[in-house]
Amino acid sequence: MIKIALLGFGTVGSGVAEVIENNRRVISRRLGEQTEIAHILDLRDFPDSPYAGKIVHDIDTILADPEVKIVAEMMGGVHPAADFTKAAIEAGKSVVTSNKAVVAEEGDKLLRLARKHGVRYLFEASVGGGIPCLRTLADSLSCNDIISVRGILNGSTNYMLTEMTKRGIGYGDILPEARALGYLEADPTADVGGFDAARKIIILAAMAWGKLLPLDAVSTVGITGITPGDISAAAAEGKKIKLVAEATRTGGRISCSVSPRLTSPGSMLYSVDGPFNAVEINSNAAGRTLLYGCGAGKLPTASAVVSDIIEAALRPSEDLPAYRWTKAGPDDIIIPGLTDGIRPLCE
Ligand code: NDP
Ligand code: HSE
Repeated sequence: MIKIALLGFGTVGSGVAEVIENNRRVISRRLGEQTEIAHILDLRDFPDSPYAGKIVHDIDTILADPEVKIVAEMMGGVHPAADFTKAAIEAGKSVVTSNKAVVAEEGDKLLRLARKHGVRYLFEASVGGGIPCLRTLADSLSCNDIISVRGILNGSTNYMLTEMTKRGIGYGDILPEARALGYLEADPTADVGGFDAARKIIILAAMAWGKLLPLDAVSTVGITGITPGDISAAAAEGKKIKLVAEATRTGGRISCSVSPRLTSPGSMLYSVDGPFNAVEINSNAAGRTLLYGCGAGKLPTASAVVSDIIEAALRPSEDLPAYRWTKAGPDDIIIPGLTDGIRPLCE
């Protein structure tokens, strides 16, 4: 029996419980044994949930349970999520997470700590929801020199831009819908301000080149300035506005940006609509690879978390080179200056 604990029982956490329950047969076939949720840490009680008896409010209950080998963190925010992650790793437990804020800020330290304690720290769900993009970089493209990575990495703003385009409305009108669908962060300024996508491009760049950039090294413009007029002007030229995150490495230095871009039908990103995300990896042997799928939402994100749980259970102390990160220094970074207006995307 693989015993696990969940931290956070919101959109993603409850989705993880659902996937573990509904896909019990396929998961046990992969693992060769059953999986059991031993504890769920949350601030609230869930008296009507079948998991009501598993809810705890003190992380120490989980840390002190020697049978729990894997902890899935889906609380959001940097603190106390990062502190709980650190404590779980120090207690000899692997941690998997959907929390890109923690990975983008503390990922290098937590990966080092996990290596020291012979456990895993995995975060496939932190970028692209259900799209398997991080392990593709770590594994399937491992013989390649990565030239650039770019994509539509924020599901809520892509959903909002798509609906604004279809219905001719402003972003404030569509925000409540994106919230009701569970796509937005607790603080939606991370989404509409572009910082959520910035954290995700930081993680992709770290997977590609092993350097973790600080958030302020990513030139970031969100969608708050996009008006229905901008969208109809783009449509008049047969184009769409997309919030694109981009990372390139030139002469050993990495530059990252997030900004609204004009995409034309020839671009691989043009048809990525609604809450869907796409990650386009340009590598020197494989060429251009496009990964496309559900970038946000309960079950797609839970799919990535549960797959990481399976990976941590099967290979509890694997130490892959792609997960050896160091902090980027000034010599590793170029901060791109963004010009005013909505720039076209190079094909
Ligand atoms: P939710 O707000 O729906 O769920 C978070 C849960 O954690 C809530 O029940 C919250 O309780 C609880 N919680 C918060 N702080 C604590 C704490 N200190 N101790 C115990 N419980 C706590 O968020 P999501 O499920 O949407 O997101 C979770 C994480 O996954 C975030 O990092 C997010 O960025 C990431 N993510 C989300 C995706 C999505 O589509 N929703 C997709 C990919 C990643 P309360 O509600 O009472 O505050
Ligand atoms: N708020 C995020 C988004 C959730 O809209 O993409 C998925 O990371």
